[in-house]
Amino acid sequence: MFYYKHIDIDNSICEEIKEWGIDNLQSSNVPFVKLDVNDFKKQCPLFMQWADKEQLKIILAVGIKVTADYKQPEVAIPHVDLMDDSRSIALNFPISGCEGTCTKMYNLVKGEQINIDLPDGTTYSKFSNDSEFEEVAKFYLTKPTFFNTSVPHQLFGVEKQDRLALSLRFENNPVLD
Ligand SMILES: [Fe+2]
Repeated sequence: MFYYKHIDIDNSICEEIKEWGIDNLQSSNVPFVKLDVNDFKKQCPLFMQWADKEQLKIILAVGIKVTADYKQPEVAIPHVDLMDDSRSIALNFPISGCEGTCTKMYNLVKGEQINIDLPDGTTYSKFSNDSEFEEVAKFYLTKPTFFNTSVPHQLFGVEKQDRLALSLRFENNPVLD
């Protein structure tokens, strides 16, 4: 099972994405917001050059926000956020407030997955109250990270400031070894 992979990508590209993220991610406290992917493609040429080389076709850009007061339980409880079964890999970039926060990934040992189909065609899943998990991986979003969103996961450590990340999704899952 693929869990996550940090990638080394030129710092100028990370800066381009960070600046775009600061200007374009939600100011509201909505946890997941679909952003204008055409604007993203036009305004992040360095990243798009890299993505072309890697044969990654970007189809979705999503802003993920966790406020320091944890008013969005959606991200702070174990969950799955899936575009569809064949496209489960996201590429996440830290935008702000990510230092010291970590994502734990789990194997469901006991309990039921509850799927909620969202209006934008994606599925968010949570788990029944009697669920039990075992931790299988843990990462800090300190650099761009490919990440399997079909594995139950949960965010920890958002304490001092709101945490913002940009999540990109692809036409096809990237081939990762
Ligand atoms: Fe998530």
